[in-house]
Amino acid sequence: MQLGAFTLPNALFVAPMAGVTDRPFRKLCKRLGAGYAVSEMVTSRPDLQDSLKTSRRANHEGEAAPIAVQIAGTDAQMMADAARYNIDRGAQIIDINMGCPAKKVCNKWAGSALMQDEALAIEIVQAVVAACEPHGVPVTLKMRTGWCAGVRNAPTLALAAESAGVQMLTVHGRTREQGYKGQAEHDTVAHIKSRVRIPVVANGDIGSPEQARDVLRATGADAIMIGRAAQGRPWIFREVAHFLATGEHLPPPDLAQVRGWLLDHLHDHYDLYGEFTGVRSARKHLGWYAQALPLPVGAAAVFRARVNTTTTVDEQLRCVSDSLDEWSGDTTTTLRDDWKLAA
Ligand SMILES: Cc1cc2nc3c(=O)[nH]c(=O)nc-3n(C[C@H](O)[C@H](O)[C@H](O)COP(=O)(O)O)c2cc1C
Repeated sequence: MQLGAFTLPNALFVAPMAGVTDRPFRKLCKRLGAGYAVSEMVTSRPDLQDSLKTSRRANHEGEAAPIAVQIAGTDAQMMADAARYNIDRGAQIIDINMGCPAKKVCNKWAGSALMQDEALAIEIVQAVVAACEPHGVPVTLKMRTGWCAGVRNAPTLALAAESAGVQMLTVHGRTREQGYKGQAEHDTVAHIKSRVRIPVVANGDIGSPEQARDVLRATGADAIMIGRAAQGRPWIFREVAHFLATGEHLPPPDLAQVRGWLLDHLHDHYDLYGEFTGVRSARKHLGWYAQALPLPVGAAAVFRARVNTTTTVDEQLRCVSDSLDEWSGDTTTTLRDDWKLAA
């Protein structure tokens, strides 16, 4: 698939998930078979751009191209400025968030709430495209199927966005009103795909190789995007890629492989967040890993309880390593000792 100057290696995308798909996790997903990843949303509010959270999100050191940054906001000028700000910091693709029930920005709801105000949504798209065009940076848009069951206006917005210069659309098969309830539907994606010429990406409730195949077939979408099913299971991308290429299932990874990925993930995580925040924010990832692994009954809960008491890098690495040894019956552990607290 082509996106601006970039040829993407495959049609498997990691969904942007605030608090989850940070740079270390995106890097791991790409290493394990994802062809494309979008950053967690970055606010368009200039007064928050220097906050630690936003500046971490705008740091793309060591991430494989293309660097796609998602911006969220409700003001066209601010969104255009945010696009330029992120391009100056390495963004090669700008994604506009109209898919996430984003928190209040400037006293208005951003993200999928914009779908309720089509005129403003398109004003934002036009302003962001105008800001990105001189830099040769493609603009993409992520949205839901509509505001509510009675207003499934994604097809209208998709056509308007295409005319305004958007180069790829992602559609999560739920309305804003649904939140994450019910089942995602992909008929709306199929409909949009039949109406526009730009690439369309299907998203929502894809959690297995078969589902990926079925959604691709049913919608004719150019790619699929996986979010929650990749939490604690970033290897889902190589499993799906293998199945789509061969029709056969890749055997699940063994614990030795998982150990390597998990420890690399942790080291990268501590490098970005430092020890205090890193150890604490890694706990949720570790909980998800434990949930995803085929462990004896009760082992995941015991592991989570242990990991949640760790407060230093050494303690956490030891806890993870010892647990993996226990689960695999292996007692020889080599931990990387080259972790240094980020300046
Ligand atoms: C914890 C979490 C954070 C999310 N953050 C964002 C975000 O920052 N931007 C966005 O467009 N969507 C966000 N989403 C929505 C996902 O990108 C995706 O559309 C949704 O989870 C459906 O895909 P899935 O069923 O594969 O998880 C978030 C979802 C979750 C669960």
